[in-house]
Amino acid sequence: MKDAVIKGFEEQYGKNENVKAYFAPGRVNLIGEHTDYNGGHVFPCALTIGTYGAAAKRNDRKMRFFSMNFDNAKIIEASLDDFEASRNPGWTSYPVGVVWAFEQRGFKLDTGFDMVVYGNIPNGSGLSSSASLEVLTGFILRDLYGFDVTNQDLALIGQYSENNFNGCNCGIMDQFAVAMGKEGNAIFLDTADLSFEYAPIKLDGAKIIISNTNKKHKLTDSAYNDRRSACEKALEELQTVVDIKGLGDLTEEEFEAHKDVIKDDDRRRKAKHAVYENQRTIEAVAALKEGNLEKFGELMKQSHISLRDDYDVTGVELDTLAEEAWKIPGVIGSRMTGGGFGGCTVSIVKDEAVEEFKEKVGKAYRDKIGYDATFYTVSIGQGPTVL
Ligand code: GLA
Repeated sequence: MKDAVIKGFEEQYGKNENVKAYFAPGRVNLIGEHTDYNGGHVFPCALTIGTYGAAAKRNDRKMRFFSMNFDNAKIIEASLDDFEASRNPGWTSYPVGVVWAFEQRGFKLDTGFDMVVYGNIPNGSGLSSSASLEVLTGFILRDLYGFDVTNQDLALIGQYSENNFNGCNCGIMDQFAVAMGKEGNAIFLDTADLSFEYAPIKLDGAKIIISNTNKKHKLTDSAYNDRRSACEKALEELQTVVDIKGLGDLTEEEFEAHKDVIKDDDRRRKAKHAVYENQRTIEAVAALKEGNLEKFGELMKQSHISLRDDYDVTGVELDTLAEEAWKIPGVIGSRMTGGGFGGCTVSIVKDEAVEEFKEKVGKAYRDKIGYDATFYTVSIGQGPTVL
């Protein structure tokens, strides 16, 4: 891909001896969903698919972007002197938002740059194509301008830009997983204080399969922000009786003891998910460390059920994929991953059951939903790199 993006760059902007190529991964979350804005734990890993980029500095104040993903794409121009003009729903609001976020932190760009990107994460699949593009941009800026920021800062800057430039109130999980990814490992992250540890994922005789509903989800949809507001409101109510900073501070027992202070039934269920899912994630990682993959798989299933019944973020497409997967004996675990409302499930499937899985789940999905799901066998990759 290195040669392809450099070629793509030179086709758009002409030969340039300073151009360099970069990569940032996508991510899949194994368990711990909708906990990252509740001070809870998550357990994502970076993928080997992601976003490639080629970039070089310019001598003026222009920023130019080109995506190799779209037919008949055109160069899109932006200016370091007018960020507001780029606050639009187009894809360049992600990289421009990251430049804006660097500048908000006092990292000013003396000149603009030219950039070409090519992504192989299916768009809108819930595998963090936007976080991948944000971290890629931050990584490129650090390399081109010598900004003194860590990979963890790149994650925070990416999240800040997404929250404040692109209007999605997302948590830190996606950008963190992308920026801090480590080959062969998932990241057990406590979003309350960003402490984390890497956990090797050794799936002897099993694979991680991502099943795409091919129903696009869009995070800026108000549904995501609504969930977040419901959790914040429930937290405020709970704080009148317990001294906590986030829903992640509560055990299941503590939640049960105090839950009646949450006035609204729907909000109580949302908060319940956040509390139980956090505890499930802690338990799942402990099970994995003991080599108890069966238990890990069972907790993945419980996670999906909670996201379906209490958090209301699945929908018939994701439910069909997960529920059909559970019927197959060689499936260790299966659940929706990411924000929900479409996107993908993640499943751990024994090698010998992979074909049966794709066939049976694929057929049941087509019969019920009316179009095909897509299946990918994925590997756990690295954080951002210079190619
Ligand atoms: C999206 C957000 C993340 C996280 C997940 C749900 O991917 O970007 O911050 O909240 O949804 O776990």
